[in-house]
Amino acid sequence: MPNLCEAPVRALAGGRAYNPRRALPKTENHGKEAVHRFGEAAIDASALAWIQRFIQTNLPVGPVPTVPEILVHRANPRSGLWRLAERDADFGTPYWAYDWGGGLALARHVLDNPQCVAGRRALDLGAGSGVVGIAAMLAGARKVVSADTDPYAIAAMGLNAAVNGVAVTPFAGDLTVGPAPAVDIVLVGDLFYDSHLAERVTMFLERCLEAHIQVLIGDPWRAFLPHARLRLLAEYPGPDFAGSDQAGQRKNAVFSLEPQQPG
Ligand SMILES: C[S@@+](CC[C@H](N)C(=O)[O-])C[C@H]1O[C@@H](n2cnc3c(N)ncnc32)[C@H](O)[C@@H]1O
Repeated sequence: MPNLCEAPVRALAGGRAYNPRRALPKTENHGKEAVHRFGEAAIDASALAWIQRFIQTNLPVGPVPTVPEILVHRANPRSGLWRLAERDADFGTPYWAYDWGGGLALARHVLDNPQCVAGRRALDLGAGSGVVGIAAMLAGARKVVSADTDPYAIAAMGLNAAVNGVAVTPFAGDLTVGPAPAVDIVLVGDLFYDSHLAERVTMFLERCLEAHIQVLIGDPWRAFLPHARLRLLAEYPGPDFAGSDQAGQRKNAVFSLEPQQPG
């Protein structure tokens, strides 16, 4: 099993080399090459600090819908995320700046059932704002690795964890292309929104099950889930995504991924 902090740089599914340093806005570093290492990637320290200041200044902290024990920085119409996109041609969809139904349900589930993570090593795969991993740490996890391919998510989850008085280990990179990691449980919040991604994530989670790692998935019943392999554990009312105002009108589910039955 790979050490989550020493994996080599790999390529993203799009075929483009993954280089979060290039993906971050250029800043004056006065000739100093300070970087922070997060798993597969080294991220320019001054760019990271600039983004974190942007988040702190423009994305107010507030309670997470249906999980009010947790506070996160969240975008609103005045946040001006376009200013980040303007500085950075590689700026992607800012999932990290919003709430997602699957993550909300899984965070709620983990806080209400702390025994599923207490004392265990967890991977929050596709962590975004970090809400699921933060819930796991608050519920007593021994360690949480919060993995995301978006360097902006790495910046946001560190701030959000600190706001809640916990620490997660950020991992910048795509673990789905590799072997099962050295953890006891994988938590997946809302990562089945695209068919190709869902296929890759499912194959990775299969490898995790084969390595006797438990897998919990939070999701608003999206079509690309591996439905035949899921066991429904609970449903929680809440919005399905971002700034949706459908709170209470939808049911977001938490599933366990079940091992394939022989024959
Ligand atoms: C819909 S958001 C969900 C975020 C969070 N889990 C939640 O529920 O609030 C999906 C996140 O997965 C990340 N992501 C997409 N593909 C990924 C991959 N292969 N490995 C890790 N993260 C990935 C995206 O950057 C994004 O932050």
